[in-house]
Amino acid sequence: MAVVALASASGSPGVTTTALGLALLWPRPVMLVEADPTGGSGLLAGYFRGSRQYDAGLIELALTAGSLSDALADVAQPIEGTAVSFVAGTRSHTQNSALRDLWAPLAETLRELETTGQDVVVDAGRLGLQGSPGALLDAADLALLVSRTTLPHLSALRSWADAFQRPALDWHQSGVLLVGAGQPYSAREVTEVVSLPVLSSLPDDPDSAAVFSRGAQPPKRFEIGPLARALNAAIASIHSTITHRRNELLEGARS
Ligand SMILES: Nc1ncnc2c1ncn2[C@@H]1O[C@H](COP(=O)(O)OP(=O)(O)OP(=O)(O)O)[C@@H](O)[C@H]1O
Ligand SMILES: [Mg+2]
Repeated sequence: MAVVALASASGSPGVTTTALGLALLWPRPVMLVEADPTGGSGLLAGYFRGSRQYDAGLIELALTAGSLSDALADVAQPIEGTAVSFVAGTRSHTQNSALRDLWAPLAETLRELETTGQDVVVDAGRLGLQGSPGALLDAADLALLVSRTTLPHLSALRSWADAFQRPALDWHQSGVLLVGAGQPYSAREVTEVVSLPVLSSLPDDPDSAAVFSRGAQPPKRFEIGPLARALNAAIASIHSTITHRRNELLEGARS
């Protein structure tokens, strides 16, 4: 696979939760990058409930004078018992100006990780914030706008959908990942009003989501529950979408 970036158009639909859920169920080694310009680490404060120290993160990458890929390997922290490592976001949004010149070289370094057998999931936070990691979204093979299906969410989604697409970047694709499809609008209804394809839908499953977003105790049958099943289906869709485009590009290059 490669680099997948998640962002939102409005109102905390579940980007951080979904990014972590995808990473934890990812079938290959994966690096999760917390690039939300809001600052603070959703993982350290949420999933790890503050039990884990902030050792190093994006800001250390921005300050490195040496090789960025070496620094990335130093800064990425493993999540024990999984094939996930993560790069913590900034401690505060006030550090974001220091990241301005990091995004483009980091995007390149993340794209190269695939050759080492590692994919990347980026939490890009909410679009339009100062310090938004635009270069990471552009570098992604697939960028997904995460959205709920209420009218206020759909209104913001529609507002950002055109700007989110990058037709000039031939490796790049974009789509929507719905959280709580059917509450109230279905994926089909969303597709009719938004100029982006709905790639996948996750159920509204607050108890399972809380495991990822705040380190809550897993509910019964969590591993095979609705959220886990939908995350696995989303991973399969992500994989086939990226593979399909790559095959198209390969065939185009041959002919
Ligand atoms: N599939 C889901 N079902 C039910 N609740 C969910 C789901 N995904 C996330 N949530 C809940 O939604 C809330 C917001 O989630 P999260 O912090 O991941 O959103 P976000 O889009 O990253 O927000 P922000 O823009 O503030 O970073 C959390 O309480 C989380 O548990
Ligand atoms: Mg978040």
